[in-house]
Amino acid sequence: MRIISLMLLCGIFVQISPGQEYAVTSPLGIVTVSFMLQDGAPYYQVTRFGREVINPSRLGFILEDAPLLADGFHVASCDTSHFDEIWTQPWGEKKVIRNSYNELRINLVEISAPKRTMAIVFRVFDDGIGFRYEIPEQPSLNDIEILDELTEFALAGNHQAWWIGAYWWNRYEYLYQQSPISKIDMVHTPLTIETEDGLYLSIHEAALTDFASMTLMRKDGNVLKADLVPWSDGIKVKTSTPMHSPWRTVQIADTPGGLITSYLILNLNEPNKLGDVSWVKPGKYIGIWWEMHLDKSTWGSGPRHGATTANAKRYVDFAAVHGFDGVLVEGWNVGWDGDWIKNSDKFQFTTPHPDFDIVEVTSYSADKGVRLIGHHETSGGISNYERQMADAFAYYERLGVRAVKTGYVNHGQGIKRLDENGKAQGEWHHGQFMVRHYRKAVEEAAKHHLMLDVHEPIKDTGIRRTYPNMMTREGARGQEFNAWGPKGGNPPEHTTILPFTRLLSGPMDFTPGIFDLLLEDHRPDNRVNTTLAKQLALYVVLYSPLHMAADLSENYEARPEPFQFIVDVPTDWEDTRVLNGRIGDYVIIARKDRNSDDWYLGSITDEEGRVLEAPLRFLESGTQYMAEIYRDGPAADWESSPYDIEIEHIPVDNATTLQLRLAPGGGQAIRFVAAGD
Ligand code: NOJ
Repeated sequence: MRIISLMLLCGIFVQISPGQEYAVTSPLGIVTVSFMLQDGAPYYQVTRFGREVINPSRLGFILEDAPLLADGFHVASCDTSHFDEIWTQPWGEKKVIRNSYNELRINLVEISAPKRTMAIVFRVFDDGIGFRYEIPEQPSLNDIEILDELTEFALAGNHQAWWIGAYWWNRYEYLYQQSPISKIDMVHTPLTIETEDGLYLSIHEAALTDFASMTLMRKDGNVLKADLVPWSDGIKVKTSTPMHSPWRTVQIADTPGGLITSYLILNLNEPNKLGDVSWVKPGKYIGIWWEMHLDKSTWGSGPRHGATTANAKRYVDFAAVHGFDGVLVEGWNVGWDGDWIKNSDKFQFTTPHPDFDIVEVTSYSADKGVRLIGHHETSGGISNYERQMADAFAYYERLGVRAVKTGYVNHGQGIKRLDENGKAQGEWHHGQFMVRHYRKAVEEAAKHHLMLDVHEPIKDTGIRRTYPNMMTREGARGQEFNAWGPKGGNPPEHTTILPFTRLLSGPMDFTPGIFDLLLEDHRPDNRVNTTLAKQLALYVVLYSPLHMAADLSENYEARPEPFQFIVDVPTDWEDTRVLNGRIGDYVIIARKDRNSDDWYLGSITDEEGRVLEAPLRFLESGTQYMAEIYRDGPAADWESSPYDIEIEHIPVDNATTLQLRLAPGGGQAIRFVAAGD
């Protein structure tokens, strides 16, 4: 690791009349942040190569029972520093990451009594900016209740944006909308933007630790304002000094793919706090899962109960034969009977159903080199879950479980919290109460050497850097919507939007790999709106360190040739390249396996068929590869002929350019096997 830290004096900053302006530019002189006070109120501005990206935008807070922390300031001091390090992800989409930025710290003091102080720290990278508020300990600021954060993002034009609405009942599980900024009301981050002059932006936050999550509310024109998700009593953040906010971030790229390969969010998180994480292992899993979503079996007990000892052993056998690391078993514990969404207090996390012998299943699977993946559906009963959490994780640890999928199904303000008087309060999934809970779960899981895969999560803000057991999460419409979603599930363009929106925040447990696309036997009114080849391509396109092969084993046994790609594809990468992409239309992503010389490529399209060029310049020069190509067959079409697939092996090297023919709703998956592998 190389760290250069150099302190410069404020004196080097540009002074512009009539107000003072302090500016800092990224290491390669690409992005500049300026800070200024206007009548004592703090503002910042962002430019890229001199072009305005964010016009002067307000900063500050409104506090409960205290004057605004947003005006009447002067700059008491400031300093800059340069930071440059190379760090290694224990697992990830890229192994070695460079973290290089220039920092500007502005120390503000109120001109009049009580002369409270607040710092605003800007980190300026070549691919964007992050800034946060730091409020030091001081006599007139101890316990703080934040009523509003005034941070604005005054966009320089009425750009196109891809967004999902905030405060909607189904959390983050919506199809993305595309509209001009002027049509936005209240949206979640990351918010993806294509500017009128062809830049790509993502507004988000990093290191959300003990704060409300930030949504964005449109004010006038093209100005978006931070909107913090409140507690049930209306307060947004309850904290005390010294405190710092999460980083507010704006990533900036010339291409949509440049957003995917920006690691700014991770760079703004603290390094690994867990020490030796050799027990954290990416991998692939199958599970007693899709059969419940198809309504072939049930989570609750009864004649169709899915999580039986015999059924679990059947899955373990399949996993062992095909090299899967884990078998997820949902519905194994007591609490599912009746209305489990309402009866969240009934879940018991150390009591299996009588027809699931967890000791027998875990020892059977251990003998076969497969691990049970645990499941904790809380249905938002946080008090119930937190009471049991330590015991529940310890129980799994004793049984040799290494990964737990958690779930928080509940709607709107459906999270149940008991207040000091034991009275139930309904909290949002995204407020500070839940941010604290999700963090507590990660820390508690780490104590028991457990990895987490969180469904109905808080959005990702890069904390996997600090807690590498926080593997993957849902937080968008996943595959399950194809089983029962209204209007037939996810349309073909959905997965061509996700890599440029939801996945910018971090890995997603989308659960690809459905081979029985028409679901005729179980859900005749639903279907999976892709070709078979596109299901394979999703393993490369949608990054997740834990990827599921979601379908029933018999559907894989019926199509062993395409299934081979799922068996082969790794989930831990040395490097990631985005060859091409247009948000909501198509994308081509190539990734290098971390444990071999092989590369993989995934390309998907929306409902339009396309021919895309894929120059293989990323392959090692001088090495010959066998390209194992899984592509849409000549008749393939997501609507009329989804199963048509061709598998071909051809020799290639890094001078080869492949023409990728993608059928409507289709895709292509390729494994490049290096000679000698
Ligand atoms: C919703 C999750 O997304 C899904 O994967 C899970 O099967 C159900 N909740 C039940 O926990």
